[in-house]
Amino acid sequence: MATSGFNQGVSATLPIKTDHSVKILRFKSHNLSFEKKSWDPTLPTGLKTNTRSINTYRICMSVQQARAPKVAVSPLEFEDAKDPPLNTFKPKEPYTATIVSVERIVGPKAPGETCHVVIDHGGNAPYWEGQSYGVIPPGKNPKKPGNPHNVRLYSIASTRYGDSFDGKTASLCVRRAVYYDPETGKEDSSKNGICSNFLCNSKPGDKVTITGPSGKIMLLPEDDPKATHIMIATGTGVAPFRGYLRRMFMESVPTFKFNGLAWLFLGVANSDSLLYDDEFSKYLSDYPCNFRYDRALSREHKNKTGGKMYVQDKIEEYSDEIFKLLDEGAHIYFCGLRGMMPGIQDTLKRVAERRGENWDEKLSQLKKNKQFHVEVY
Ligand code: FAD
Ligand code: A2P
Repeated sequence: MATSGFNQGVSATLPIKTDHSVKILRFKSHNLSFEKKSWDPTLPTGLKTNTRSINTYRICMSVQQARAPKVAVSPLEFEDAKDPPLNTFKPKEPYTATIVSVERIVGPKAPGETCHVVIDHGGNAPYWEGQSYGVIPPGKNPKKPGNPHNVRLYSIASTRYGDSFDGKTASLCVRRAVYYDPETGKEDSSKNGICSNFLCNSKPGDKVTITGPSGKIMLLPEDDPKATHIMIATGTGVAPFRGYLRRMFMESVPTFKFNGLAWLFLGVANSDSLLYDDEFSKYLSDYPCNFRYDRALSREHKNKTGGKMYVQDKIEEYSDEIFKLLDEGAHIYFCGLRGMMPGIQDTLKRVAERRGENWDEKLSQLKKNKQFHVEVY
């Protein structure tokens, strides 16, 4: 799949099957060869404090010794700036970029369509991980005659180096907004979303008008390379996290050598709807000490009350670990459906009460410490 980037001469030599949780990996430990290593004080904070055994850590060490090198990126001058680029291109003076590729990245049984769109900006519209681009779809705005369409924002799903590692492209993860007639239940493509439809239908070489980059709330804090980052995504909300994770685990960035814990919770409809699962599973194989990955497949799995399995059910399952990590300074990020936030807040409140804590106070402290990052739409 074009989105992986691991085909750049990088190969895995892991002697075990890829699995989706380190817990499962632990049960497969008989497949691995162990080295006698004493406890390493450099073990990421998140792993020191959770319930994992030293054996898991030995597995981590064993796997880490076998994994392939990271991918070189350029230009490394992208690391020099102290502040992120912001609104380099505004709606009145946008940049005309070129579509490199558009790939449907969900299987046939996914309800809805999501595409990975790679855009060539020629190195002229640089951005940082966690920022968004604006896209102005072609045509005129029917609500403002004579004017262009309004800008639509899309989280950038690549690192600043792009999927070709040369700093010239940006990737978007776009879900086609499909309109269903409420009476017939049938798709009425004449009313599908203007911009998402344009992006998902575009072809290599087509021009795309972009603005930005914008947004600071989802920038990856990099002051502490051993920090814990807990990422909660629904659907295309995974986009900024793909960027973070490529920077942490795929790219060789001399000034950012991540050795903390990244924990991704991804909520999608079913296994055909999983996004970038090959990349994430590879990190799990290569960096079991530094990466955790939990998936909530709402239409395939049930929660403990028999309802749909949502990301908040997974959060509840691991709530004690999550709260402990937050108390130790972990960052938590939420991205995706706006509708997920009330359910998540209810869950966090319920967990806090069970633990004898006050969620409202905890939340304001997390916000004050800049540990709580939300981008929902
Ligand atoms: P629009 O044309 O704006 O239409 C909106 C909705 O109205 C559609 O569902 C459409 O079917 C419906 N509609 C159209 N006509 C009618 C009608 N006559 N009656 C009733 N309904 C109608 N999206 C992503 O896919 N990926 C991202 O990474 C992403 N990141 C975002 C980041 C931010 C910070 C924000 C704010 C939004 C983000 N979005 C993202 C959402 C994105 O900006 C757009 O809102 C989305 O793609 C829909 O835009 P559109 O032009 O396709 O739909
Ligand atoms: P569902 O649509 O089954 O109700 P996708 O892009 O694959 O549709 O992913 C979005 C995911 O977010 C789906 O699993 C969807 O479930 C889920 N979802 C929908 N509403 C909420 C909500 N209020 N809280 C958490 N997850 C939600």
